[in-house]
Amino acid sequence: MNISNINFKPGLEGIPVTKSSICEIDGVQGKLLYRGYDIEELAQKSSFLETAFLLIWGELPTVNELRNFEAEVQMHRRLSFRVRDMMKCFPSSGHPMDALQSSAASLGLFYSRRVIDDPKYVYKAVIRLIAKIPTMVAAFQLIRKGQDPIQPRDDLSYSSNFLYMLTEKEQDPLAAKVFDKCLILHAEHSLNASTFSARVTASTLTDPYAVVASAVGTLAGPLHGGANEDVIAMLENINTPDNAASFLKEALLTKRKIMGFGHREYKVKDPRATILQTLAEELFERFGKDEMYEVAKKLEEEAIPILGAKGIYPNVDYYSGLVYRKLGIPRDLFTPIFAISRVAGWLAHWREQLGANRIFRPSQIYTGSACRNWKPLDQR
Ligand code: CMC
Repeated sequence: MNISNINFKPGLEGIPVTKSSICEIDGVQGKLLYRGYDIEELAQKSSFLETAFLLIWGELPTVNELRNFEAEVQMHRRLSFRVRDMMKCFPSSGHPMDALQSSAASLGLFYSRRVIDDPKYVYKAVIRLIAKIPTMVAAFQLIRKGQDPIQPRDDLSYSSNFLYMLTEKEQDPLAAKVFDKCLILHAEHSLNASTFSARVTASTLTDPYAVVASAVGTLAGPLHGGANEDVIAMLENINTPDNAASFLKEALLTKRKIMGFGHREYKVKDPRATILQTLAEELFERFGKDEMYEVAKKLEEEAIPILGAKGIYPNVDYYSGLVYRKLGIPRDLFTPIFAISRVAGWLAHWREQLGANRIFRPSQIYTGSACRNWKPLDQR
């Protein structure tokens, strides 16, 4: 086969690399379905753990299945003292995503049996990862402040417990409800970079902790997980709604992107952005306004007549940072929180990959020099 004749697409844009039944995106209608269920309905009626079960095992759980799943996740939320001690040695100035990647990878040291064709092992690995990743994120937050991590509380739900471990306070039920919905909204989005990374790693038949660690590392990059942090920085820079129009004009003139706008898959407003905007409003109503929300709305109003014509609308990151900010979550934890949620999607893809595995081994178009002779040092 003459590789150079193949239509080369940098970034594999538009090239299918797998078949998948996990998630469907309709970028024209603005629809996102997990296993055939509309994200809007899931965000309204489901919980994150139920949605994770659906994504990973393919069907909504029965009452018993959900009860067992929730109980097992609850049982496995604690971290071994060795993992906690290891995390205490991380530099407190380090990025929480690096701390999470290292901690997730370390689980492979504790549960290293690579029997990925044993359903019991697969189930336990799923439980451990979903249970322990939030504990790791919260633990690093306290450790870097010089405190000891606090233990999970068995009387709290998945999301309430995470907020409790992070802030050391039991939060208002509305905060936990909104946070849980955010986790549902971020749980899966087909073959984005981190999910592709998870599938490539899975295809080598390595253990699931390595699969998730590689996905966390991929999510950490600013072109993937970090745009909601940049949205907040942009809104703070604009400062007041009155500056939105001039900021937009200047950005477009100098070809700078509006953060939180645009998506490879969506040509209309991202359905998750619409839901997140409603969630943000619920929080503002209860806990007080955020001035930056007015800036965001004004910028959206100014941008849509111009960017909308090119199919560029708010994406999931446009309003999520404002929600997290109102929940009191520090900005550099936005991406680790994305990972808490997306682990469900990564694990669903891990299982699907193993179901019909072929190791990923793409080709390349070689552009280096032809065969040449080695020269001794004194002749170079
Ligand atoms: N503001 C202004 N113009 C934009 C924007 C934007 N946010 N996004 C795309 N464009 C323009 C871009 O300048 C280009 O115009 P032209 O053809 O005149 O040069 C055209 O639209 C195509 O842009 P692109 O970057 O080639 O489009 P893409 O599909 O490769 O990029 C994107 C998608 C999300 C990377 C991009 O829209 C972007 O950088 N947005 C800002 C960052 C952001 O919000 N990222 C979060 C993505 S959603 C979460 C995730 O999936 O991780």
